[in-house]
Amino acid sequence: MGDELIEVPAGLRKVVVTTTELGDVHGDEGFYHYREYSAIDLAQARTFEDVWFLMFEGHLPAQAERDAFVAELTPLRALPAELRPVLPAIALAGPRFNPLAGLRTALSLLGASRNLLPLWDTDTAQHRADAKLICAVTPTILAALYRIRAGLEPLEPRADLDSAANWLYLISGAVPDPKRARAVEQYLIATVDHGFNASTFTARVVASAGADVVSAIAGAIGTFSGPLHGGAPDRALEGLDEIGSVDKVDDWVREKVENGDRIMGFGHAVYTTDDPRSLMLRDIARDIGGDLVEFATTVEQRVVEILAELKPGRQLYANVEFYAGVVMELCGIPRALFTPTFAVSRVVGWCANILEQAAGGKIIRPSARYVGPTPPQPVPAG
Ligand SMILES: CC(C)(COP(=O)(O)OP(=O)(O)OC[C@H]1O[C@@H](n2cnc3c(N)ncnc32)[C@H](O)[C@@H]1OP(=O)(O)O)[C@@H](O)C(=O)NCCC(=O)NCCS
Repeated sequence: MGDELIEVPAGLRKVVVTTTELGDVHGDEGFYHYREYSAIDLAQARTFEDVWFLMFEGHLPAQAERDAFVAELTPLRALPAELRPVLPAIALAGPRFNPLAGLRTALSLLGASRNLLPLWDTDTAQHRADAKLICAVTPTILAALYRIRAGLEPLEPRADLDSAANWLYLISGAVPDPKRARAVEQYLIATVDHGFNASTFTARVVASAGADVVSAIAGAIGTFSGPLHGGAPDRALEGLDEIGSVDKVDDWVREKVENGDRIMGFGHAVYTTDDPRSLMLRDIARDIGGDLVEFATTVEQRVVEILAELKPGRQLYANVEFYAGVVMELCGIPRALFTPTFAVSRVVGWCANILEQAAGGKIIRPSARYVGPTPPQPVPAG
């Protein structure tokens, strides 16, 4: 290839940059899948651990494989001893609690102390071991940071609880009721992976350079912390709070859009129809029931209608974040942990992508078209 550049659409929309066996999103059909299965079907029928196994190993586990996998994960969930002395400094840093920054920091320290080596220098078995550790320990670290910031003692995971129930237990110290634990589990399954989104791409770029798993995850978390990507479920719920009552929806939406603001929890970069995750979460929310659910469904309907009027042809619907916020609120997850809950599941998807990237792939190295003053200009004397 010579020096000529190939122009692609802004944001790399629809540009294929690699192949994957992990899954895909069909935006026009409102469908996405993990490997050969509909992600929503998996969320209806399987456990989080089964889907985690599927993403890492390529097939759903048989009973013996499931038992072995769960037995392997249990000790990896423990709060790492080397993090205990520093977690308070991380959790209490800054004027506001920033759990994703805390997670990045804690994982970086863990990676250094456990001597996680570059993917380039280690074999496939080690890649998997590193990835499992990071996925298993992520909820424990996040919940510990939350509890320390709230003035509470961090908790150790319980071997008798699965990933979803453990997540709720680690936050509150109470064993959740099965309905709420299952609601959270379905949310976790539905958000494990979602095509070549910005954080997944980031993880793959870092992995493509042969760096270690933690570096790739830290990069992904950074991308994910942006409100246009993973940071909206709490903001979506804040929108509901701001609206307050059904009669105020229209004015609120119109004012926002006229001011050039986005309605959080609506619109999607890939879906041009209903986001299937939003539909599933709406059903879960309705199953739990209550005033908040009634209000949210009314607001959703009105927002979609008004956006269709004010932004004709843009096809803006509720995205995963709108009902995710509602479901998490109903399950007692504090708002500060809404986006981190998304990270608890997505870390599995990031890691599956890192494993796939490490198994063979070229370093990702695109180009930019230079549009500044013509070089070389004479350097002014200092
Ligand atoms: C998710 C998101 C970033 C996707 O953006 P995108 O596909 O790049 O869409 P664009 O930014 O090109 O927007 C297309 C048009 O729809 C409008 N639009 C998109 N999402 C909107 C929203 N939530 N509220 C109001 N208008 C919206 C844009 O203003 C733009 O209008 P214009 O053509 O008049 O300029 C965007 O929909 C958004 O900001 N949503 C709110 C944040 C959110 O919920 N994030 C979580 C995503 S899972």
